[in-house]
Amino acid sequence: MSLPHWEETPTDLPAAVREIKAALRDRIAASGRTVEEVFGVVEDRVRVAVEEIEAAHKSGESVWPVIEYDQLAAGSVPAEQIALLRRRGCLVVRGHFPREQALAWDRDIVDYVDGNHFFENYRGPGDDFFGSVGSKPEIYPIYWSSAQMEARQSDRMARVQAFLNSQWTHESEGVRWFDPDRDSLYPDRIRRRPAGADSDGLGTHLDPGTLDLWMTSANQRAFRHLFDGSVEQYDPWDAAHRTDGPQYPGSTMCSAFRTFQGWTALSDMDHDQGVLHTVPVPEAMAYLMLRPLLADVSDDDMCGVTVNQVFPASEKWHPLLMRALSGIPDVRAGDSVWWHCDMIHSVAPVRDQQGWGNVMYIPAAPWCPRNERYAASVRAAFATGDSPADFPPEHYEREWPDRFPAAALNNTGRRGLGL
Ligand SMILES: [Fe+2]
Repeated sequence: MSLPHWEETPTDLPAAVREIKAALRDRIAASGRTVEEVFGVVEDRVRVAVEEIEAAHKSGESVWPVIEYDQLAAGSVPAEQIALLRRRGCLVVRGHFPREQALAWDRDIVDYVDGNHFFENYRGPGDDFFGSVGSKPEIYPIYWSSAQMEARQSDRMARVQAFLNSQWTHESEGVRWFDPDRDSLYPDRIRRRPAGADSDGLGTHLDPGTLDLWMTSANQRAFRHLFDGSVEQYDPWDAAHRTDGPQYPGSTMCSAFRTFQGWTALSDMDHDQGVLHTVPVPEAMAYLMLRPLLADVSDDDMCGVTVNQVFPASEKWHPLLMRALSGIPDVRAGDSVWWHCDMIHSVAPVRDQQGWGNVMYIPAAPWCPRNERYAASVRAAFATGDSPADFPPEHYEREWPDRFPAAALNNTGRRGLGL
């Protein structure tokens, strides 16, 4: 029995939601189990993790695993640290770059945007996702500074990305789903939030997709264990079928497959200054995928998930998960922060922020068919200074003479761009 699937956004969304929900319920029933039973298995598994995190909150122990870059580079990370990374799905890498290096990159970015009159020419937010931050940009739609490219193609970045990628099972069924040792240099933006800033933050959400997670044939294969009676075998670290795409188009779409989302700190940031939070339970994805199939959700509703908006996680539908929301510890410039691509995350609100809040977004996006396809458009954008195809077409850097030049690409940079 094959599932109905839509490789492009369905034209009649409510009808498609009704159809896929009925088909998924039928498939679970055909396996000899009920939806409630399958969801219960996932709920029990998630509850154990949530209660462990709540206990850590109470005892004041840090929930986020922290690994020193030097240990990671030496291959001497203790096994229990790696086990904690797998259990929590998130990580702070301390001293990923020397602090002075990160602070110098931050100054270079200021020189780059000032020297090219970015603020005088800024036309306002190019999308509605970060639109609430106000007219003075905190998210800079800047992709091709030397600072960003140096970080993306650095040996230190490649080493951390390879370590994170290797937490995933990337070979199975006779297929090598991705190459853990080659990154595709996914270009993303910069955030510079000044001292004194007020910010409403970003609500709890996840980024791996929207309705396509249930509706495309690749995703139906990737999440097969949730619906075929073998829910116990669901593994959030299994890359099988995750790397073919596509995602339905939308303003927050990511064309690349990322094993981890991440950013590198360009300033020191205290844990209570409007920083990133996650629900550090990678298998919560199974909960999010199965929850809409329960009887208390109307037939044309996926617990609020729809196209062209981020996938919301909420107190209304996911109260168990919300109990585990955990912020990063204090970080210093040069530390990096990573979270599993399926994980719920948010940015806390802040009033009168103390100190700067500056980051470069650099994920781990290993070489795979999906990222190879996107790399072709990245190469073209790099050559012309365009905004990459996943982002609003703002193209501020086209005429900026001090963009990172092709001649400065090293071997990692060339490989990442598919050259
Ligand atoms: Fe996000």
